[in-house]
Amino acid sequence: MKTEETYALETKNLIKVYQPPSGIRRALMRAPIQDKIRAVDNVNLQIKQGEIFGVLGPNGAGKTTLFKILTTLMRPTTGRAIVGGFDVVAEENKVKCLIGFVTGEERSFYWRLTGRQNLAFFAGLCNIRRSEIPERIDNVLQEVGLGKEANNMFYSFSSGMKQKLSIARALLTEPKVLFLDEPTRSVDVLAIAEIKQFIKRLASKNRQTVLLATHRLEEAEELCDRIAVMNKGRIIFCGTVDELRKALGSRERYEILAQDISHSRCFAIGEKYKLGNVETENPSENGLLKLSFTFTNGCNPLSGVLRDILTAGGTILSCNRSERSLEEMFVDLVKGDRIGS
Ligand SMILES: Nc1ncnc2c1ncn2[C@@H]1O[C@H](COP(=O)(O)OP(=O)(O)OP(=O)(O)O)[C@@H](O)[C@H]1O
Ligand SMILES: [Mg+2]
Repeated sequence: MKTEETYALETKNLIKVYQPPSGIRRALMRAPIQDKIRAVDNVNLQIKQGEIFGVLGPNGAGKTTLFKILTTLMRPTTGRAIVGGFDVVAEENKVKCLIGFVTGEERSFYWRLTGRQNLAFFAGLCNIRRSEIPERIDNVLQEVGLGKEANNMFYSFSSGMKQKLSIARALLTEPKVLFLDEPTRSVDVLAIAEIKQFIKRLASKNRQTVLLATHRLEEAEELCDRIAVMNKGRIIFCGTVDELRKALGSRERYEILAQDISHSRCFAIGEKYKLGNVETENPSENGLLKLSFTFTNGCNPLSGVLRDILTAGGTILSCNRSERSLEEMFVDLVKGDRIGS
């Protein structure tokens, strides 16, 4: 039965735990003893129809596992996921009819068929009426910008063309929700630009909901209405790119080189002025200490920080200001595993 139609996709306390191989299986695989892995850890998402929603996170964050659950390829350990109003476990087949899934590492095409013949084969599997197949194929090829090249053998395709063909295949069934797992992985810049253009067109023209997994912040920034940042299975941020920028804090980073001051005193000063991303290091062995930090809540307490270092008996040798790139800010966010305030 179709339920909860408000969202194109919703998850409730979704958890996936990979159990390590045990006993004889582990022995046969010669696998080392491992802990279980909580690849998706209590994920709650609500995604509206027509949204381009980015799932951003470093390697191993859990993006692919989350997508596999949402596309019914894998069962969650606990929790629920509802796609197009249907439960991914209880109504698996109904969900399958609504979705398209593209991964960055496509290996399932037939190398000795042309691009077009491959699409015809998969269209047959998707229960598309025979008479409709040629037109459907023309449409999806046009949609992804593959022209006459689609008549060439798949083995002669470039990685960009293979990726476009994967997307074309996912579009054959006119899915309501399209899952793109790292669609620009291992394709050149030209193909990346074309794929991005295509994603934008898709959402604006067809009101299709698109979930895009990526570890490239600038890609998510350019394409997505909202993004969730994932780390170690958990969503550590969910909101618009503007909100993410705010949460990441100031772009300015300060570096103070000081003498005769301890790490713990620097951290205490960081706490007092609510500094973000505080790091200390000893650049050499002669008692020097480098303190670096960002400002978090819009105000600039630099003079207070410098005064406190001097009051604590430290000597300030230099103070430099630099601007962090958005990528660096993202790395800080993931390292700290929390959003700045
Ligand atoms: N089939 C599996 N069995 C056991 N552990 C797995 C399995 N698949 C993934 N993992 C582990 O689950 C965690 C999440 O992996 P996942 O592939 O979902 O991350 P990801 O965000 O897609 O990473 P990437 O950016 O590298 O694609 C990782 O620690 C990974 O090693
Ligand atoms: Mg992945």
